Amino acid sequence: MEPQPLSVRPYAPTNPTRPFPYTQADMTPTDPGNDASFYAPPRFVTHIDDNAIVNLKRYYDDNLPEMGTILDFCSSWISHYPPRIHDAVAKGEIVVLGTGMNEAELARNPVFAPGKDADVAARDRRWWLQDLNVDPDVPFPKLGGQEVKLDASTCVVSIDYLTKPVEVLSSIRHQTNQGGKVHLAISNRCFPTKVVGRWLEVNEKQRLEMVGNYLHYAGWRDIEIVDVVIGGFLNDPLWVVRATKT
Ligand SMILES: C[S@@+](CC[C@H](N)C(=O)[O-])C[C@H]1O[C@@H](n2cnc3c(N)ncnc32)[C@H](O)[C@@H]1O
Repeated sequence: MEPQPLSVRPYAPTNPTRPFPYTQADMTPTDPGNDASFYAPPRFVTHIDDNAIVNLKRYYDDNLPEMGTILDFCSSWISHYPPRIHDAVAKGEIVVLGTGMNEAELARNPVFAPGKDADVAARDRRWWLQDLNVDPDVPFPKLGGQEVKLDASTCVVSIDYLTKPVEVLSSIRHQTNQGGKVHLAISNRCFPTKVVGRWLEVNEKQRLEMVGNYLHYAGWRDIEIVDVVIGGFLNDPLWVVRATKT
């Protein structure tokens, strides 16, 4: 059976000119700081269920670019990208960069490995460690001496851990080509002591709006909320909040 088209709705803050609506307390986790030690042990697990992964791969297949440079931030050993992205990486048509908190996880993620025919420039290291709560300014490497510009970025079930999401998303936007997109995948599981305070106080609809607000205040536009999987008693929900550099 053909998958049904996904439900997509535009999002804009009700009062887009007022200042960023969240307080310091809203953006502080129960266990602030010490992220490096929290993420020091590698976790070779998946953080969403198999059905959510299948559907996220399908979403990426339909929505990630055919060529260019993609960043997976807050990444791990797995990015949930479909086979066509891995094939394009192997052919050198797509470069995927990654940033995260655990060296062993990132080193094992095959999508950050240059293709076997890659030239010297493409053998530059494609992933790096960065605590975005300490330094939210994403430092893009030069590949083959060239400054990197992004065509898309992805972030899976992690935006809720960032205490300075507007700074992070602004820095990524700055590095993105005009028309490039960011896709933030969201579900309802989390490390409760590490998500920002407000995440635990509001419902799922309000969380999606909160992420929409992060994007708006970071300068992204054409913000949309996509229902990728409707959650149920036995399966994880999955949404993507996405936006474009206009
Ligand atoms: C639930 S895991 C999700 C990992 C990955 N995106 C996935 O789908 O498997 C949360 C991730 O958020 C990222 N993260 C959490 N706190 C962070 C911080 N302070 N700075 C940068 N990344 C952070 C880490 O990469 C961590 O692996």
